[in-house]
Amino acid sequence: MTDLSQLEADLTAAVAAAGDVAALETVRVSALGKSGSVSELLKTMGQLSPDERRERGPLINGLRDRITAAIAARKAELEAAELEARLAAERVDLTLPPPPERRGRVHPTMQVLDEMIAIFADMGFGLAEGPDIEDDFHNFTALNFPPKHPAREMHDTFWLPQNEAGERKLLRTHTSPVQVRVMQQGQNKKLPGWIAQGQAPPIRVIVPGRVYRSDSDATHTPMFHQMEGLVIDRNIHMGHLKWTLDAFTRRFFETDAVVTRFRPHHFPFTEPSCEMDVQCDRSGGSIKIGEGSDWLEILGGGMVHPKVLANCGLDPDEWQGFAFGLGIDRLGALKYGMPDLRDMFASDVRWLEHWGFSAFQAPNPATGLS
Ligand code: DAH
Repeated sequence: MTDLSQLEADLTAAVAAAGDVAALETVRVSALGKSGSVSELLKTMGQLSPDERRERGPLINGLRDRITAAIAARKAELEAAELEARLAAERVDLTLPPPPERRGRVHPTMQVLDEMIAIFADMGFGLAEGPDIEDDFHNFTALNFPPKHPAREMHDTFWLPQNEAGERKLLRTHTSPVQVRVMQQGQNKKLPGWIAQGQAPPIRVIVPGRVYRSDSDATHTPMFHQMEGLVIDRNIHMGHLKWTLDAFTRRFFETDAVVTRFRPHHFPFTEPSCEMDVQCDRSGGSIKIGEGSDWLEILGGGMVHPKVLANCGLDPDEWQGFAFGLGIDRLGALKYGMPDLRDMFASDVRWLEHWGFSAFQAPNPATGLS
């Protein structure tokens, strides 16, 4: 006769040893399946005498019930473990880097402006700013443009409608009016002034900003950016102007190969006056610096006219200095090879993606602060 306790011990051990649901199923079939060991025992019940059946029946039924329960418990355990394993394997890994985002670009004008400010800051220049909407006095009269003089027309000015006071303001045609504001405010110490603005001499400032002229072709846009420079002291001369602009140009273009040319010129607010050109090659749809037979004018400059000094309250016998006005966009076009200035302000995102700069780019060691 089968040893029930031995069979139960064997089956219990087999249930515990089943490592997965499939192995457990094999154990179940071997015990409770059609010809499983426990099922066979149950079949033998019919052949027993009533006394034997009374004695063994509950034992065999008890064995079947306990084995059935043990299998169910083990099955639940194995299924839970399998679910655990699947959850762990299928977990979304939040530490994965996100897909790249589309980032904005820095407009070349702003990049170039930062580079220029860094270079002039290194030379000891402070920064000043003035309004885009100017009056006739600051834009023309104080700068020694005679009334009705054709030089006023030369600037193709955008005039604003006359106000109640009978005055017509204008969109400034150059950054030179800020020279006047800096010098004038320097005389009135009570005016709060902006950064470095409103200095008494000695003065050493740059003035970046937007300027406006009714003009449009490949090298002119109705709005563009200039940077004014103003240096006023007791013994400043043209040599300082030339050195400053030559040093700036070499540093800006990151090469000593750049060739500059100073030409005599006329501005009402400087005497003598000059224009500076940079040698370049414009063949083949792009601009290359330091080679070729073309010249691009990038600035006007000269010694500040004694009348301008006097108009701003400075004694021309005591003070003198130089001034210059640089085209920021033109310098950028030259440095980075942009053939048409008009594209700079067409607000075409494709253009900006191509010519723009990363906002996270480290400052250029050749042009940044050293
Ligand atoms: N204001 C001039 C222009 O827009 C540029 C200029 C020339 C500025 C000579 C100056 C200067 O300060 O001295 O064409």
